[in-house]
Amino acid sequence: MKNETRQAEEVVVMDSIRPEQQTDKGRRNFLIAAAGVLGAGAVGLFADTLIENMNPGKAVEALGAPIEVDVSRMEPGQLILAEWKKKPIWILKREPWMLQTLSEPSLLRRLKDPRSKQNQQPAAQFINGNYRALRPEIFIAVALCTHMQCIPAYRPAPHTVTPWWPGGFHCPCHGSMYDFSARVVEGSPAPLNIPIPPYYWKTNTVARIGEINAAGLDKDWSPDIW
Ligand code: FES
Repeated sequence: MKNETRQAEEVVVMDSIRPEQQTDKGRRNFLIAAAGVLGAGAVGLFADTLIENMNPGKAVEALGAPIEVDVSRMEPGQLILAEWKKKPIWILKREPWMLQTLSEPSLLRRLKDPRSKQNQQPAAQFINGNYRALRPEIFIAVALCTHMQCIPAYRPAPHTVTPWWPGGFHCPCHGSMYDFSARVVEGSPAPLNIPIPPYYWKTNTVARIGEINAAGLDKDWSPDIW
């Protein structure tokens, strides 16, 4: 039987966007990789380069087959980028302090859709309070700004984008801001939270992205923005 799953390690094009060691209390320095600041046009380039570098069978599968991502070797704070349906996918291992920011009243009152009421995730279990993830510590989202589809930069360091910045994602194209759950901040040109793709945990450490259960449910789901 044809195996329609690609292992994500074949298509990871960026990793090591991770915090450096803390150098002193209360202060964090972060290493931001170049791939985290891809701008307009980056999505097409990303997808085309990826497809060109695959053999024909892989390229066909890239158009829609689920992918599997093993998170067992991810470090706290690390962001990796994978690809599904020619779209970049973030997998972020959130640290406890990152999760704490998501319920701060000072953040929640700045968000356009803090309770994720818009159809930007496949089902209610993908909202999960403020986490927008089945497991709070592993955040999975489609890495495209809901304004004009740039790839937002990973900006985890607090106070670096604005004085009140708790950490999250910042789009370099027109300045849209998102928290660590990719919920959009008021005043951003982006209208909606960033989509969460269908996925489920196939094992304790392997997420299967592209459907919400082994029967293939919701593999054709799409959010309001597409
Ligand atoms: S594309 Fe992100 S703010 Fe315009």
